[in-house]
Amino acid sequence: MEFTIKSGSPEKQRTACVVVGVFDNRKLSLSAELIDRASNGYVSEIIRRGDMEGKLGSTLLLHNVRGTLADRVLLVGLGKERDFRDREFRRAVTSAVKLLNETGSYEAVVYLTEEKVKRREVAWRVEHAVTVAMDAVYRFDRMKSEPAEVRRPLRKLTLSVPQRSDLADGEAAAARGLAIAHGVEVARDLGNLPGNICTPSYLGEQARALATEFPDIQVDVLDRTRIEALGMGSFLSVSRGSDEPPAFIVLEYKSAPKKAKPVVLVGKGITFDTGGVSIKPAADMDQMKFDMCGAASVFGVFRAIAELKAPLHLVGLVVACENMVSGRATKPGDIVKSMSGQTIEVLNTDAEGRLILADALTYAERYEPDCVVDVATLTGAIVVALGNVASGVFSNSDTLSRALVAAGDESFDRGWPMPLWDDYHEGLASNFADFANVAGRAGGAIVAACFLAKFAKKYDWAHVDIAGTAWKDGKEKGATGRPVPMLVTWLLTDAVPVP
Ligand code: BES
Ligand code: MN
Ligand code: ZN
Repeated sequence: MEFTIKSGSPEKQRTACVVVGVFDNRKLSLSAELIDRASNGYVSEIIRRGDMEGKLGSTLLLHNVRGTLADRVLLVGLGKERDFRDREFRRAVTSAVKLLNETGSYEAVVYLTEEKVKRREVAWRVEHAVTVAMDAVYRFDRMKSEPAEVRRPLRKLTLSVPQRSDLADGEAAAARGLAIAHGVEVARDLGNLPGNICTPSYLGEQARALATEFPDIQVDVLDRTRIEALGMGSFLSVSRGSDEPPAFIVLEYKSAPKKAKPVVLVGKGITFDTGGVSIKPAADMDQMKFDMCGAASVFGVFRAIAELKAPLHLVGLVVACENMVSGRATKPGDIVKSMSGQTIEVLNTDAEGRLILADALTYAERYEPDCVVDVATLTGAIVVALGNVASGVFSNSDTLSRALVAAGDESFDRGWPMPLWDDYHEGLASNFADFANVAGRAGGAIVAACFLAKFAKKYDWAHVDIAGTAWKDGKEKGATGRPVPMLVTWLLTDAVPVP
């Protein structure tokens, strides 16, 4: 989809559709008021009759409104004016875009971006209108033999800003929003692909394709021999039961030949998680194709940052393999040696994410990073703790944790801080190895993070557990592309610029 920014009166727009808001209690927004005046009170008459109450997300499409130059006027309910915040703004835009996409308006001029949202500037409204619109028209139908056809899909949105002086900010925000949306799209597509297609080798190919499309990205895909040579015994122990070869994918983005200390992103890329010998129950096991969403989000972030040509130095480490059952698979009680030299008693083969991330965190040391952030669908326990709303943010640096949580708030891709206190480490004690990979059920998400912390002592590090946020279940089942918006927003505001 294409986006442009404009400033001007709604009644004067020559377009397929003008989109204006109506608040609860039949209160017209400023732009709806202008349409109303131009049409001699037609809009207020409709509202008086009770056809549009202003309920958040409701819509009413009007044709040939006199006094206006547009073919249609779309009224969108905004809810109570004093409650119009981030979530409400995004929901209103979603309803508008979904309706436009289904009713044959191939273009529209949207005035919702002129509405005041608490704490938010014009740039925020434009950026979010773009990401929300792209999310609303997203479809994944490449695995269907006959994709359902949208007759006249929405192709162009013009977003209106209050003043001409807002145009420049608006355009920059739209570009940022579009790059984030493209990153989210990459992450959603990879997440939605089934495990028999999205294998570790497939992820390697996708990394190469990304590097071909964006020359600022370099890629190296390490195969089993090179992974063995590095001594990544913890990672390889997870891959053992699978016939699909593992891949350790290294991405590097540099906007300039000069180097700043890089930010390293690490992604969990379990392309299918059966649980291994500690096998998972059959019900809903298909969801474990989403166990590579951390990896997918690393790809998405690279795509967005490269599109924006942001002045950063970024390294991405994607650890990819399957967690399968076979005669060669790792067994409970097996002891493996990680790249760090620390030995691990694998008491539960289903706690595999931490095993593969451990070696990637050790590998990250060679970059002398500014900081390292790993992203993983790591634990069912984080879903119990935070539901599907917020990702869990764990860190050995309060500054880093606060920056990620703030970026999550800004991008409406929220994260919430979780503790990493020493007390939580105790359960990991082992009589046979340096430590075990699991403790009791209590505080499972924190214990998993504590395990990772043992491999991330040499730099500032954060771990983002996205098990509850990376995909949706139910009618809208599918990958969400989170936490690409959080991470891109964080990188654009906090990462050290390349000198
Ligand atoms: N990939 C799962 C975590 C997961 C579970 C994500 C459910 C989304 C929904 C992970 O590898 C796993 O199996 N974790 C175990 C850890 C346990 C064995 C300590 C879990 O959470 O049950
Ligand atoms: Mn598992
Ligand atoms: Zn897993």
